Amino acid sequence: MALIFQKPSTRTRVSFEVGVFELGGRPLVLREGEMQLSRGESPADTARVLSRFVHAIAIRTGPQAIVEELAAHAEVPVVNMLTDEHHPCQALADLLTLRERFGALRGLRLAYVGDGNNVAHSLMVLGALAGLEVVVAAPPELAPDPAVARLAESVAADGGSVTVTHDPAAAAAGAHALYTDVWVSMGDTDSERRRALLEPYRLDERLMEAARGDAIALHCLPAHPGEEITESVLYGPRSAVFDQAENRLHAQKALLELLMQRDPADP
Ligand code: CP
Ligand code: NVA
Repeated sequence: MALIFQKPSTRTRVSFEVGVFELGGRPLVLREGEMQLSRGESPADTARVLSRFVHAIAIRTGPQAIVEELAAHAEVPVVNMLTDEHHPCQALADLLTLRERFGALRGLRLAYVGDGNNVAHSLMVLGALAGLEVVVAAPPELAPDPAVARLAESVAADGGSVTVTHDPAAAAAGAHALYTDVWVSMGDTDSERRRALLEPYRLDERLMEAARGDAIALHCLPAHPGEEITESVLYGPRSAVFDQAENRLHAQKALLELLMQRDPADP
């Protein structure tokens, strides 16, 4: 399996590499500067060629359009390991963590507080699909993309829903889980503006108090304790953050098994 990284990674890279190995495959980690992609070879030709050598391709990159071009021209499954718009493998691990903690997904209220970024987008789409009530609280300037909200609404199943608000306390009220992510993502350049806008959206003890008594705290990591989440929440008794990180491995192995099952009619 080819694992292409055009951005840094700790969890995604290691969990994919270990997961492919544990499934009996061989991972090939390919960094941006090592590939002709970095010298202008198209994603389409990269997909055509890699399809002759590997059984699946995964990529972490900026533009969503690159993943879509790879997928359109590959003859093997293509997995999104994070773009500026989406982080679906993270959301799979998040849903697994919620199911472990609460037994089932349907009807759980998940409040995401902070930047309306790639992680928020994937939680909206996968959460709605899995029957969650997803509430995103973000400043108006950093709200999730309305097109992604419409996509999430269009795939909602099992009573799933998505709401976008600017009020963190309203989002947290009655939530089973409070989730946040970094204020400055890879590729963001306006860090000072973002920190100022997001200051009222920190996941702290006071916000945890607004949630259910058994609510858990989630964060995809890497974290900046003191910025988007307080140290006491990140490392406190209600944090499920490190189980959540471990679940990247388990969820991705399940995803690969699903994607790469041989067609019994065409062995
Ligand atoms: N959560 C996540 O995707 O972490 P990495 O950037 O370390 O892969
Ligand atoms: N939103 C973050 C997630 C990192 C896993 C980023 O894109 O940098």
